[in-house]
Amino acid sequence: MADTESPPAPAEGFDRVNFLELRNSQLTEAIKRVESERHYMEAEILRLQREVKRLKTELDRLRYPPLIVGSVRDILTDGRVVVKSSTGPDFVVNSAETVDHEKITIGSRVALNKQTLAVMGVLPASLDPLVAASEVVEKPDTTYTDIGGLSDQIRDIREAVEYPLLRSELYKKVGVDPPKGVLLVGPPGTGKTMIAKAVAHHTHATFVRLVGSELVQKYIGEGARLVRELFQLAKEKAPTIIFIDEVDSIGAKRLEVATSGDREVQRTLMQLLAEMDGFEPLANVKIIAATNRPDILDEALLRPGRFDRIIEIPVPTYTGRAEIFKIHSQGMAIREVVDFESLASRCEGATGADIKAICTEAGMWAIREERETVTSADFERAIDKVVGDEEMRKESVTMFA
Ligand SMILES: Nc1ncnc2c1ncn2[C@@H]1O[C@H](COP(=O)(O)OP(=O)(O)OP(=O)(O)O)[C@@H](O)[C@H]1O
Ligand SMILES: [Mg+2]
Repeated sequence: MADTESPPAPAEGFDRVNFLELRNSQLTEAIKRVESERHYMEAEILRLQREVKRLKTELDRLRYPPLIVGSVRDILTDGRVVVKSSTGPDFVVNSAETVDHEKITIGSRVALNKQTLAVMGVLPASLDPLVAASEVVEKPDTTYTDIGGLSDQIRDIREAVEYPLLRSELYKKVGVDPPKGVLLVGPPGTGKTMIAKAVAHHTHATFVRLVGSELVQKYIGEGARLVRELFQLAKEKAPTIIFIDEVDSIGAKRLEVATSGDREVQRTLMQLLAEMDGFEPLANVKIIAATNRPDILDEALLRPGRFDRIIEIPVPTYTGRAEIFKIHSQGMAIREVVDFESLASRCEGATGADIKAICTEAGMWAIREERETVTSADFERAIDKVVGDEEMRKESVTMFA
């Protein structure tokens, strides 16, 4: 039997060697795998440890009491600081060790501890969002040709606003101070805002726009700061045209008796006057202000040297009204030849805004009657409806006369 068997040793030995080699490589493989797993686990632990740390600091940050934003009024010789927070009176406070004392200057914005009002940090100087948003980036699409019947006023405003920006050297050579700006006064709906938009459309200057009532309503206690920041923005971006609409809401007469709200408005006005007088001349900054209540404006705003020109924007004349009719009916589908002159003669005292309303109303008549074009009769009916009570209109016109 032994004879018939093939020699086992080499074969067996061979298998064994094979087996051991296989086993060996399998084990090495496994070790490699486990090792890489270990590496992975170690990295994962590190990552999670870092994550825990991050969350802890995040938690600390969230638990940190809020800081109050204030501004520095004065710095005392002993290093203490007089601050004003938006909540009320001025306080004398210390500042934290960690704050770079060099950076605390009069006027800088600082973060204050809620309890002690100590200065915890100096904030980067930044513009208030309202001021930052007041820059009109996209040019309004109103042009001078969209304005009817105000060619003299448009010429005046261009002389006072556009030319000084374009030709400031000429003023310097001649030796006169260029005009600072204009005040547009006139009844509601006569095109004051429109003119300012058209000026913005036609110049390459930066245009910043602010509405007086917004300034005092939204930002009680901050109006003066906003005015200061507005002029700062204007100077940085010069040449600039600042348009202050509804200036009467900050420029009303200063009265003796005043509520705290009135005092706030007055502070805003004082700041506006101070900026207009400014130590550095506002060579490349022009101001256009508009109001429909010139009667309540403070004399200080009206005296020479502030607004160089007060341009009256009157209720349109007969020819003005006809022009405005033509402008606003331009895009309308009109069936027949409409005599705008005769329409104009029928609405004495109507403002540009009224005439726009008449045109819209004429279109409405066509729509009501399911027609696709507008007729003269539609305009006639619209005048009756919009201008309506002639007596009432006359009264409101004489109020501004
Ligand atoms: N002269 C005009 N030519 C053409 N359209 C005019 C004219 N005046 C007024 N309008 C029309 O009336 C609308 C209102 O005008 P605008 O806002 O300029 O009046 P305003 O004088 O600023 O009034 P308020 O004093 O109430 O602010 C304009 O959008 C325009 O459609
Ligand atoms: Mg207006």
